[in-house]
Amino acid sequence: MGAPLQAIASAPMGAEIIDGKAIAAGVRARVAEGVRAFKEQTGRVPGLATLLVGDDPASAVYVAGKHRGCIEVGIEPIDRRLGADAPFEAVAGEIAALNADEQVSGVLMQLPVPAHLDGAALTALIEPAKDVDGLTPVNAGLLSQGAKGAGLRPCTPLGVMELLAAADVVLEGAEAVVVGRSNLFGKPMAQLLLAANSTVTSAHSRTRALPEVCARADVLIAAAGRPRLVTSEHVKPGAVVIDVGMNRLTPQEAGNASGLVGDVDFAAVAPLASAITPVPGGVGPMTIAMLLANTLQAAKRLAGVGA
Ligand SMILES: NC(=O)c1ccc[n+]([C@@H]2O[C@H](COP(=O)([O-])OP(=O)(O)OC[C@H]3O[C@@H](n4cnc5c(N)ncnc54)[C@H](OP(=O)(O)O)[C@@H]3O)[C@@H](O)[C@H]2O)c1
Repeated sequence: MGAPLQAIASAPMGAEIIDGKAIAAGVRARVAEGVRAFKEQTGRVPGLATLLVGDDPASAVYVAGKHRGCIEVGIEPIDRRLGADAPFEAVAGEIAALNADEQVSGVLMQLPVPAHLDGAALTALIEPAKDVDGLTPVNAGLLSQGAKGAGLRPCTPLGVMELLAAADVVLEGAEAVVVGRSNLFGKPMAQLLLAANSTVTSAHSRTRALPEVCARADVLIAAAGRPRLVTSEHVKPGAVVIDVGMNRLTPQEAGNASGLVGDVDFAAVAPLASAITPVPGGVGPMTIAMLLANTLQAAKRLAGVGA
C-alpha cells in the first residue's frame, strides 16, 4: 500500500494512516498459506507453546489472544501453566521439556513472571531455535551482529519493520530516532533500523532536549510508555511517526472507546507527519501476527525445509 516516502512527504497536508489491522491480516494470511505448505511437505503442523506462571488476568488475556491467532492460521497452540508460587527450578524444568519436545516449534515465556522469579534468566533458558519472541541473549546477539537471516527477531520491532515496508518508507540513509531502549522493544528496533541502513539515534529518559533530538527524525518511533509524550514540537514536517505506546486510561481520559492511548499526541502530530500509526489499530495488531510468522519460520528451520 501507499506511495514511496518522498511522494508522501510532498503531500500538501495530513498523514497517511498506516492501517496495522489490515497489514496484520495480510501477514496472518501469508502465515496460514505457509502453514498449509509446511503441512504438505512434512505431514506436521507447527506448534507454539506458551508458558504462563501465575494467574495475572492481563497475561491470561494475552495468552488467549495468542492461542486464537494460532488456531486461525493452523498452528497448534500448546498451553502450559504453573502456579504463582512455582519455584525457578519447576519453571526451568518445564522450559527444558518444551525445548526437547518435537511437537513444539516455538516456546514463549509470558512476561512478567511473579516477583520471586527472574524473567530474563528464565527466557535465556529457551532453546534459541525455538525462541519465537527473539529475546534470548543468543538471538539478541545475532541481531546486534547484523547476522542476516540468522536468529529470530522480537515480534513488535519486526512488526514495525513490516508496517514501514507496507507504507513504502525508504529506510536507507534515513535519520531514525527510537524513543525507548528496552530489551523488549527499543534496542532490537534500533538494531533492525541500523541493519536497514538508517542512521539511528536511541533516545531515553536521560536524553537531553528530547524534542530537538526527535525533530531530526525522518522516521520517529515512540516506545516510552508515556501517554502523548510526542507532540508537534517533536516532529519534523513530513516525518513518518510510529506509535508503539499502549497506555491504558479511562475511555473518557483517552478520548476513545478502547481507553488505549499511545505515546504520540495523534491529533497534534497527524497534520505534520507524512504517515502515522493510530492507537489502537497500528502497531498493536502486528505483534501476534509476527509471533505466528516467527513460529512458522522456526518450524521450517527445525524441520530443515528452509525459511
Ligand atoms: N504494541 C505492542 O504490542 C507493544 C509491545 C511492546 C511494548 N509496547 C508498549 O510500548 C511502550 C514501551 O514498552 P517497553 O516494554 O519498551 O517499556 P519499558 O521497558 O518501560 O521502557 C521504556 C523506555 O522508555 C524510556 N522512557 C521513559 N520515559 C521517557 C521519557 N519521558 N522520555 C524519553 N524516554 C523515556 C525509558 O528510558 P530509560 O531506559 O532511561 O528508563 C525506557 O528505555 C509501552 O507503552 C508498552 O505498552 C507495545
